[in-house]
Amino acid sequence: MNVLLIGSGGREHALAWKLAQSPKLGKLFAAPGNPGIAEHARLVDIDPADHRATVDFCLKNSVELIVIGPEAPLVDGLADNLRTMGFAVFGPNRIPAQLEGSKGFTKDLCARHGIPTARYVRASDRLAAEAALEDFSFPVVIKADGLAAGKGVIIAGSADEAGEALATMFDGGFGSAGSAVVIEEFLEGEEASFFALTDGRTIVPFGSAQDHKRVGDGDTGPNTGGMGAYSPAPVLTPELERRALSEIVEPTVRALAERGTPYSGVLYAGLMLTGEGPKLIEYNARFGDPECQVLMMRLESDLLGLMTAVARGGLAELPPPSFADATALTVVMAADGYPGAPVKGGSISGIEAAGEAKIFQAGTSVAGGTLVSSGGRVLNVTALGTTIAEAREKAYSAIDAIDFPTGFYRRDIGWREIARQAASAGQAEAIG
Ligand code: AMP
Ligand code: GLY
Repeated sequence: MNVLLIGSGGREHALAWKLAQSPKLGKLFAAPGNPGIAEHARLVDIDPADHRATVDFCLKNSVELIVIGPEAPLVDGLADNLRTMGFAVFGPNRIPAQLEGSKGFTKDLCARHGIPTARYVRASDRLAAEAALEDFSFPVVIKADGLAAGKGVIIAGSADEAGEALATMFDGGFGSAGSAVVIEEFLEGEEASFFALTDGRTIVPFGSAQDHKRVGDGDTGPNTGGMGAYSPAPVLTPELERRALSEIVEPTVRALAERGTPYSGVLYAGLMLTGEGPKLIEYNARFGDPECQVLMMRLESDLLGLMTAVARGGLAELPPPSFADATALTVVMAADGYPGAPVKGGSISGIEAAGEAKIFQAGTSVAGGTLVSSGGRVLNVTALGTTIAEAREKAYSAIDAIDFPTGFYRRDIGWREIARQAASAGQAEAIG
């Protein structure tokens, strides 16, 4: 089967690497791809925003399945147009992708179906938003309604900060994403990411992970798209996972099917594990980046088989996905300046010497025969271990072999879980 993969990040490199392991794969094409993806796919120069050109390419090259990695083409309705032309697509149509494309859409759906999430108010002008603030205590969370690359969330500690955040949003600081806002209650707890595959009817859990969104060690500094992740996230215990599935994901998928806009693809639930149980922070209509990289390292099932079943509505006929009983951990190497304007063109060498780690490429390109940085997040150094400490050790020793002078990375990926394990080992010793 010929497949077209849309996207150019570390997430898509991990997907390409895994798809390439499938015995069912014919040709793999990627648009636009990156030098890492090019090891597994033929890169094609079509713009996924040009739906007509994408359809024509698929017709000409006998593509049967299109895998859409990032959110923008989903929210833009690429899947709808491909489905109309008879292609199998991994990724939701435009309306169900509103779960990610509009925070207000998701909050209203949660409210209608009793899905646990933070109490909220939607506002589409500054005066209404300021008035709504009266009903919240501080800190309060202010979110741009639309897509903002993970950066449209401000946690305001005081009325002054909240006022400033609203001014930024309504003055266009987040582009059109901020022309409407959601104001919500601040939730206390630890975050975890939970993934499920669904064809609109059948839902299967697809693993957990924990991301590290802040740019600096110890979870300091501004939010990023994610500086590192590990999977599984044991903080999401089997009991909490069952609750997230039955109280959050299942009612969401059912609600979208009932309104005639079924969700098909991977549904990524960002959860806050509160004292009252898991609550939804946000949905993403795609795999997380870098969470996908750690899921793919652990996945044992045939990814192409799973994606085809999701796209064609046959998920119920497949055995549940199987994952290695090991921990995968990835460290993002980013370019200096990220999450602001990253330094581009910085040379990268030594990735061949990564040992047991797998290096997924994100913002890279080739210039004059050498690999250089071309985006904010550049490499994802990913390793598998029997414990999280072992996976971390392997990832960081691979980083030591990489020479990327204009890059930086967090040194503490996995710290929450490692601290928890150290504490429980200490306790066991004290009891023993
Ligand atoms: P989002 O883009 O909605 O995932 O928000 C980005 C980050 O902001 C989340 O990963 C959380 O760390 C934080 N956040 C968002 N909403 C809340 C909330 N209601 N309470 C506490 N933290 C939040
Ligand atoms: N790493 C967070 C995301 O992909 O949304």
